[in-house]
Amino acid sequence: MNNQERTFIMVKPDGVQRRLVGKIIQRFEDRGFKLVALKFVAPDQGLLTQHYADLKERPFFPSLLKYVSSGPVAAMVWEGKDAVKTGRVMLGETNPLASKPGTIRGDFAIDVGRNVIHGSDSVESANREIGLWFQPQELVNWNTNDHGWVY
Ligand code: PPS
Repeated sequence: MNNQERTFIMVKPDGVQRRLVGKIIQRFEDRGFKLVALKFVAPDQGLLTQHYADLKERPFFPSLLKYVSSGPVAAMVWEGKDAVKTGRVMLGETNPLASKPGTIRGDFAIDVGRNVIHGSDSVESANREIGLWFQPQELVNWNTNDHGWVY
């Protein structure tokens, strides 16, 4: 069992503009995951082309890049048991119409081209995406009771 599995989660520009960042962070904290990196960034086309490299032949690739580069995003790394798989369940399906209520997309999205959030789809993708978006020193190791102020 790997309690330190990490996943890359990104609140996309529509999620930021709709003020959903706090609610989304709350869901991951409530579920028991640990935030190990967080940054607010306006991603350029170069970074997004690398991030979505496996989709570059898809017809929606240009509109996906235009959408995700249309404003700042909140990029984060969450850690915990089965963080990748559980993160994807918390997000819901890629198409919000197929997402169940209680999931992030099921509660906040309607359109696949405005689906609020990205989450890594495998441990391999998570490692690649974390390496793309964060420097190693931006990933912070910490423990709940490091300072003895939680009883
Ligand atoms: S697919 O079709 O299986 O490759 O799609 P999937 O792997 O589930 O999705 C990959 C990312 O592409 C986005 N996507 C779209 N964006 C715009 N328009 C359309 N039609 C579309 N279909 C898929 C989808 O949201 C995924 O982005 P991320 O950021 O990974 O969620």
